Amino acid sequence: MHINAHGGGMLYDKGTYYWFGEHKIAGSEGNKAQVGVRCYSSKDLYNWTDEGVALAVDSVGSGSDIEKGCILERPKVIYNAQTKKYVMWFHLELKSEGYKAARSGVAVSNNITGPYKFVKSMRPNAGHWPMNVLPLHKSSNIPSQGKSYTGSGMPTHTDSLNILGRDFQGGQMARDMTLFVDDDDKAYHIYSSEENSTMHIAELSEDYLSHTGRYVRIFVNRYMEAPTIFKRNGKYYFIGSGCTGWKPNAARSAVAESIWGPWKELGNPCRGTNSELTFGGQSTYILKVQGMQDSYLFMADEWRPDNAIDGRYIWLPVTFENDNPLIYWKDDWKF
Ligand code: DGJ
Repeated sequence: MHINAHGGGMLYDKGTYYWFGEHKIAGSEGNKAQVGVRCYSSKDLYNWTDEGVALAVDSVGSGSDIEKGCILERPKVIYNAQTKKYVMWFHLELKSEGYKAARSGVAVSNNITGPYKFVKSMRPNAGHWPMNVLPLHKSSNIPSQGKSYTGSGMPTHTDSLNILGRDFQGGQMARDMTLFVDDDDKAYHIYSSEENSTMHIAELSEDYLSHTGRYVRIFVNRYMEAPTIFKRNGKYYFIGSGCTGWKPNAARSAVAESIWGPWKELGNPCRGTNSELTFGGQSTYILKVQGMQDSYLFMADEWRPDNAIDGRYIWLPVTFENDNPLIYWKDDWKF
């Protein structure tokens, strides 16, 4: 069986792992959401069962935010113990608008495998300043007003363009993303914002369906994508990528004592053949493996943009040296 779950994430629930990801189809149009989010389950991470489409896109002409042909990427699912619901967040680009909309979508289900019901999409934290806002953001000088940027690089430092201030009222841009649930059940949404120049970490409401307005900017002007977050021995770790579209680049890593930072960058965690290009992949999730001590699984996508369905997955163990996460290339390995 081929697994069709790209930009995916994993959720462990009552003895079973569930892998959610983008269902892609053949050809370059297969990067757009033609089907939705697919789910697979496994008890041992080796043998997988296809659980079908967890969140289906809406039909053409429905006018829905998740109409067939939209871009729906990097879905992640978490469980809310209070409401007993499974909550899915994803990066959403409205149909026929390229990557301009930069929105987040949320869907909910009583069953882990779905069907998930689309709730809403938004740009996060409209009308809220981050906890580490600078005075310059609140000034009326917004050189980026009315401009939208394509591609990865912008010539000027993001703060001199005050993109944060530009998007204050309508909400902050949110593209590549992940979710993280802490030991106290507080959940966080981590996304590439401000034209991908800066990451935001934003707290979710108790039901995990909205943002609380509490958020921080991290890795300002560092152009990171593909965020993953995990916790080990009380410390928070981040592994992500640079911004080069579908092409691989060198991974980035960072550590923090608090989810709110300060985050200290640790450089490229990859080691061995092709480590400068993340072994040809791009991070999507880090799974804490159950029942094994200190076992973390690095999950990455090897994109094939011209034939999206042919994208592959790279799984490697995360090891630690002096508490810094490292990912060594291995031709084959076992848990
Ligand atoms: C890299 C991102 O990580 C992917 O999820 C996707 O958005 C591509 N860029 C699109 O170029």
